[in-house]
Amino acid sequence: MKKTLIMLTALFLSLSLCVGASAVTIAFSQIGQESDWRTANTDSVSNAIKAEGWDYVYDDAQQKQENQVKALRNFISQNVDYILFTGVVSTGWDEVLKEVNEAEIPLVLLDRMPDNIDDIEYAAAFGGDFVEEGRRMALWTANYVKKLGRENEELNVVILEGTTGADAATGRQNGITEILKDYPNLKVIASQTGNFTRAEGQAVMESFLKAHDKIDVLLAHNDDMALGAIESIKAAGLQPGKDIIIVGCDAPKTAFDAIIAGEMNATIECTPLYGPFVVDALKKLMAGEELGREVIHPEESCFDAEGGIVYSLDGRVSEKAADKIGERLY
Ligand code: AHR
Repeated sequence: MKKTLIMLTALFLSLSLCVGASAVTIAFSQIGQESDWRTANTDSVSNAIKAEGWDYVYDDAQQKQENQVKALRNFISQNVDYILFTGVVSTGWDEVLKEVNEAEIPLVLLDRMPDNIDDIEYAAAFGGDFVEEGRRMALWTANYVKKLGRENEELNVVILEGTTGADAATGRQNGITEILKDYPNLKVIASQTGNFTRAEGQAVMESFLKAHDKIDVLLAHNDDMALGAIESIKAAGLQPGKDIIIVGCDAPKTAFDAIIAGEMNATIECTPLYGPFVVDALKKLMAGEELGREVIHPEESCFDAEGGIVYSLDGRVSEKAADKIGERLY
């Protein structure tokens, strides 16, 4: 009897040690599913984590900060091992992220960053360079206008902004403004949020078209809003991509299709495919490696109908969408 008990205890201990060694729980607080980019981002991260066999807890906050705060607190009470976090806006996280730090759960920041990032303890961070993306949208436009021979014409520009308070929106807007100040012929006549969604992009563009007789250029902080706006432009009897130059950001397949169809002019890439970066970082953290406290920006390109247009201050040139659509993964 005693022998059986000892054997059972040993078996129990080795089993729990095994479970303890392999059971890692990764939790992801995602902001919602507002765009093609976001869906691709969620899929990329989720699939990469599941492929590693790690336990995975996912929360979709439906664009609400209070839902994200709740999710983070749930993750803490579930005592997860790592937290992946994208904040819908840049401010208002101090308290809850302090709680994450106090619980000593390593935090990996994805995509959008809190604005006081230097005061937060985080283990790794991956995000887009939003200011640079905005610069590229504006610079591509200025060079395209030059290619059309319209650089001396006064052109009216409207902007569809992303979610107010998100660094993806403020960054892109700042980048656009920085470049446009060197091109006084490109005059911003209206700028309003379309919340990064197709439906709001369509509705806001409709109101822009009602309020302004002459719109020559649309800069949309993401392609979903540009695609929504295209519907309003067509409904107003205008030709998108011709009567109005349309430039977006993200570069999903849907934008490539619109460019190839001649209804959109260019898109600046902002890759959502974070899965491999995240898994690599998590493996390093699990192995006890310290990752630098820096935001890693993936390389990005720009796609349009013909290619060859300079879109960055360091002289990069755009690629032809039709040549690259086959390689698109999102
Ligand atoms: O934060 C990245 C932005 O958020 C993407 O450009 C946009 O499509 C998304 O919703």
